[in-house]
Amino acid sequence: MKIEIRRYHPHFEPKSIFMSYEIPEGLTLLEALEHIKSKLDSTLTFSKGCRSGVCGSCAVRVNEKEVLACEYRVKDGDKIEALKASEVVRDLIVDMKKPLETLKKAKSYLLEQNIVSMDEEDEKMTKKQSDCILCSSCYSSCPVFETNPDFLGPFALTRNYRYVVDKRETKKKEKIEAILQNGIWDCTLCGNCTEVCPQGIDPKTDIMMLQSWATKFGYQNPNIANFGSFGLDF
Ligand code: SF4
Ligand code: SF4
Ligand code: FES
Repeated sequence: MKIEIRRYHPHFEPKSIFMSYEIPEGLTLLEALEHIKSKLDSTLTFSKGCRSGVCGSCAVRVNEKEVLACEYRVKDGDKIEALKASEVVRDLIVDMKKPLETLKKAKSYLLEQNIVSMDEEDEKMTKKQSDCILCSSCYSSCPVFETNPDFLGPFALTRNYRYVVDKRETKKKEKIEAILQNGIWDCTLCGNCTEVCPQGIDPKTDIMMLQSWATKFGYQNPNIANFGSFGLDF
């Protein structure tokens, strides 16, 4: 069967083209990429690590949907591309610098730690979000990045929520303040991020929870507040 891969090289013209490859049936996408590299075209470039859905390094898009290459079984006619929203370095490898910087901007870590004991219930509150493997699939699937490259994005926000509900965090308000601009109010709640997450994390719901936390601290959704400026009285 045949698959197509979008090849990218910053120094070639054109920089990017789809190339077609004949591969055996029944392979995972990662096995197919390895087959191509060892038997057909040694210049193909991609990332891999654990081979078992744990490290997050093999995320790509198949037919415009984000998948982990080591978990996806290839079908005839599949079109494989690098993740969106990050700069492509070569073929299927993207620069992870930008998505990882959003974690810092969103203060998605413990800012100041209270010394308290954590029981099983407390740990359950943050367990799901802690399973994030930083694959960047949610970031690639998010439509807001198409219009706003400064948007903090799903995984930084879901991580922020993980620490807002962490009982040890004393600076919850400061954490919320870090995600007001280019953050929770810019999300359209489309749910793409939740749909593609290989770990079953639900950034959309976490963002809605963060919006409630922001309201609790007295912050308003500026998009709703701005209705007034159009003279709309309800
Ligand atoms: S729900 Fe929000 S963060 Fe998730 S993909 Fe849609 S716009 Fe992006
Ligand atoms: S939240 Fe899910 S999709 Fe997003 S980076 Fe983490 S594991 Fe990947
Ligand atoms: S190689 Fe680690 S998640 Fe696929």
